[in-house]
Amino acid sequence: MSESSVREVSERWSAHWYAVARASSLGRDAPLGVVRLGQPRVLWRDASGTAHCADAACPHRGADLRLGRVVRGELECGYHGFRFDGGGACTAMPCEGRDAKPSRALCLRMHPVREAHGFIWAWLGGRGQGALPELPWLPGAPEPGPRAASVEAVWNARFTRVMEGMMDLHHFPFAHRRYAPSAYTRLEPFEVREEGSTIHTTGWLREETGPSGSGLHFDIRVGYPGVVHLRFTPRLQGAVVCTPIDTEHTWICARFRQDSLRVPVLGWLASRMALALEFGFIQPDDYRMVRHSLPRSGALGQGAMVRADRAIVAWHRLHEAALGQHGDTASAS
Ligand code: FES
Ligand SMILES: [Fe+2]
Repeated sequence: MSESSVREVSERWSAHWYAVARASSLGRDAPLGVVRLGQPRVLWRDASGTAHCADAACPHRGADLRLGRVVRGELECGYHGFRFDGGGACTAMPCEGRDAKPSRALCLRMHPVREAHGFIWAWLGGRGQGALPELPWLPGAPEPGPRAASVEAVWNARFTRVMEGMMDLHHFPFAHRRYAPSAYTRLEPFEVREEGSTIHTTGWLREETGPSGSGLHFDIRVGYPGVVHLRFTPRLQGAVVCTPIDTEHTWICARFRQDSLRVPVLGWLASRMALALEFGFIQPDDYRMVRHSLPRSGALGQGAMVRADRAIVAWHRLHEAALGQHGDTASAS
């Protein structure tokens, strides 16, 4: 990935909350390394269990802090053993002796973190003035629990294309023609509602000559930038978080929860089965389409959008507005 691509992702897309990892992936004994928004990041928990996130390059001489360890809640670099507390301050330089005072240049580049809804969220961009906004979580989206199951994936596709795919209803009878009724091609009725940075799209896919409101029903909400709430049925719902790894790759984590079987193990098993079917059979169709769409970036003006793409247009408008706050929008992608 070129330096300019790294800069583009890390500077222009970053002034938002993104889910960067599953909360359950981050234990107390070891740091967790991820690449998000174009940069390696290190996560760890301090002695109280609070999660922290920093850029992974050690301020001493650049070693990858993801190769270090956690000692009594402090992050220790694996190269020379310098230690850092949850505020990013260097607390120990073994080579200089116990009484040495680390300079301010030895502070980590920290990022605000929240732990909520089963995810670690990080604000990886500039903070500007004032308090940070609320997480883009959608109330009602499935929370972690005994009847919920989750899965992670990395797609070789740009974040913008992945988000387009998440909101797309009318691809169903074509991209999923192996499983879906191929006659249900007409999207009507179809509605898109926007409220702040939330987009809610509902619709029915029916046969061309079928009665309005018959066929397959879809109900999807998106919290900009990358939170999706899928209401498959009243008793099966999904939450999906999507986060750019870099310009070309996207991290996806999906959680399904079914509410028909209330026995914990059976409930989890049913959710796991639904997830396995979705990611084993349905999502590969989506991935095939999204991965090979050209240009790889998706943006307003790059395609001839139609009525059925209205939710996607709404998301792109939010995206362009967000990018506009951080410079030009000419290469919005
Ligand atoms: S590079 Fe991290 S302690 Fe030296
Ligand atoms: Fe799909």
